Order: sequence, then C-alpha cells, then structure tokens
Amino acid sequence: MAQIAIEIDKCIACGRCIDICPANIFSKDENKITLQYEDSCIGCGHCVSVCPQEAISHSLFPIEKQHAFSYEAYPTPEAMMSIIKARRSNRAMTSKPIPEEALKMIVESAYLAPTATNSQNLEFTLITDPDKIKEITSFTISTFYRIRKMLANHVIAPITKLLMPKTFAMVPMLDRLKAEFEKGNDKVMRGATAMLIISSPKGDRFGAENANLSYQNASLMAESLGVAHFYTGFVLSATRLKKGALEKELGIKGTICAGMALGMPKFKYLKYTERKEIDFTKL
Ligand SMILES: Cc1cc2nc3c(=O)[nH]c(=O)nc-3n(C[C@H](O)[C@H](O)[C@H](O)COP(=O)(O)O)c2cc1C
Repeated sequence: MAQIAIEIDKCIACGRCIDICPANIFSKDENKITLQYEDSCIGCGHCVSVCPQEAISHSLFPIEKQHAFSYEAYPTPEAMMSIIKARRSNRAMTSKPIPEEALKMIVESAYLAPTATNSQNLEFTLITDPDKIKEITSFTISTFYRIRKMLANHVIAPITKLLMPKTFAMVPMLDRLKAEFEKGNDKVMRGATAMLIISSPKGDRFGAENANLSYQNASLMAESLGVAHFYTGFVLSATRLKKGALEKELGIKGTICAGMALGMPKFKYLKYTERKEIDFTKL
C-alpha cells in the first residue's frame, strides 16, 4: 500500500487533490485537507502532480520521480492534426534495421499509454529476430489453413457459405497468403524487421482496451520517427483461433491483444486521402 501524507505546514487547502483524485481519498474538513481510504489509491500520482505547494508526500512518487515540463513544448494542435491525418499503415518495408533509439522510443510510448485503474499491467515483447518473425507468419498461415480446410469441406461448405458469407469470402485471400508464403513472399509480416506484441494478463477485463490505446501511442510515435508500421490483425486473428499457442511459442505469459509490424519504409506517402464522411452526432 502506498504511504501518503499531507504536510500541514505547506498545505494551503486549495482542494486540487480533491478535484483530481480518481479514488476520492482526499476531503476537506474544517478547511484542512484530510486523507482517508489510502488503500484505495491507484498510484496515478495525479495528486503530487497538481499540488502547488509540494505538500503531498507519496511513497510511489518521491521527488526524483516527479518531472517539470513545459506546455510550450507541446506540438501545436495543427501539428497534432497533421500527424493524425498523415499517419498511414505502410507495408512497403526495406531490410534496413530500425535504429535502436527509435525502437526504444516506440516501446516507451506504448508503455506510457493509460491503463484502466492505472494497472500498468501490459507486457511488451519486441521481436527483431527474422526467424522468429517468420515463425509468427508460419503460425498465422497454418492456423488459418486449418480453418480454411474446414470451411471448404464439401459437406459443410454450402452451410458455411450461407451462414458465414463474410468468413467464406476470405477463402481465396487465405489461399493467396499461403501460396505467396510458399514462394517466399511474406504477406502477413510484409518484410517487417521488428514486431511489437502487446499482451495483457489472462482474463483482464480491460486488456484489449489497454493494449489498443498503447498501440496507438506507439503508432503515432513510429509515424513521427518515420518508421513504417501496421497493425498485425492477421496474427491477432490466428491467436484467437488457436488460443494460447503463439503465446506459448514466444514465452508470453498473458494473452496477445495487439501487435505492430515495424520496418524502415521503402518510400513514404505523397498524399493522404480522405476518410468516409464522418458519422457524428452531437446531443
Ligand atoms: C484491428 C486492425 C487490424 C488490422 N490488420 C491488418 C493486417 O493484418 N495487415 C495489414 O496489412 N493491415 C492491417 N490493418 C491496417 C488497416 O488495413 C488500415 O489501418 C486501414 O486500411 C486504414 O489505413 P491507414 O492505417 O493507413 O489509415 C489493421 C488495422 C486494424 C485497426
């Protein structure tokens, strides 16, 4: 349990800690800030970050873990919008390795994303070994192929076609993936030189949400670094079809919830295209 204390001689009872605390452990009593239910603290550090008097001492956030920053150093809203608009999945990758420093920043950005109840319980696996990346594609294709064989079985094919038309429509695409892989063309990982896998503890209620927020942080960082990347949805689908198998192969303790293929781009986009019309309701 975190040890939290309010230094009475410093505290001006401004109440910022009360406003900000997600666990509602601060209150005001006779113009003094008081603490209760400290064991409900989720360790977010918001209270120490807003206190203008440095009057809160928190065992998880000693002074060396608190960092001043400048809002002036933020990208402008226009700069933010420009990267959001221009970020694209880029599957055209070279074999040139990604600089270590860039990989470090991408993983750090993923790790810094918010998590429900501040659990910070995601597991990150960065793979740069080409044999392991090939193994992941191989796992994906063989898992799909088992299902593809079932789907196309002459007895059940008419039924699956009728009941699961979208799944059935994937058969030719699965055939192409396999045929290309056999010719040495990896259309799953697309020549990525690295893969970032984001996993969460088995059964975590917010595992998928946490992982996808983490993914998006890493995606915007990769974009700003000029590192090509895309979401490895094929791999994720295969992990769902054969639960726990890839995790076991890679020594991952939890469940894989998101994945990012990474590589240095062969070329960059010259334009961005517009999305469909926005479906926006203001109530
Ligand atoms: C959940 C999810 C799964 C995806 N899976 C794949 C994939 O397996 N392979 C791939 O090349 N792109 C994949 N993508 C990328 C999408 O195709 C891409 O985001 C979409 O076409 C929009 O393009 P943009 O990312 O350039 O904006 C996936 C994206 C998401 C969000």
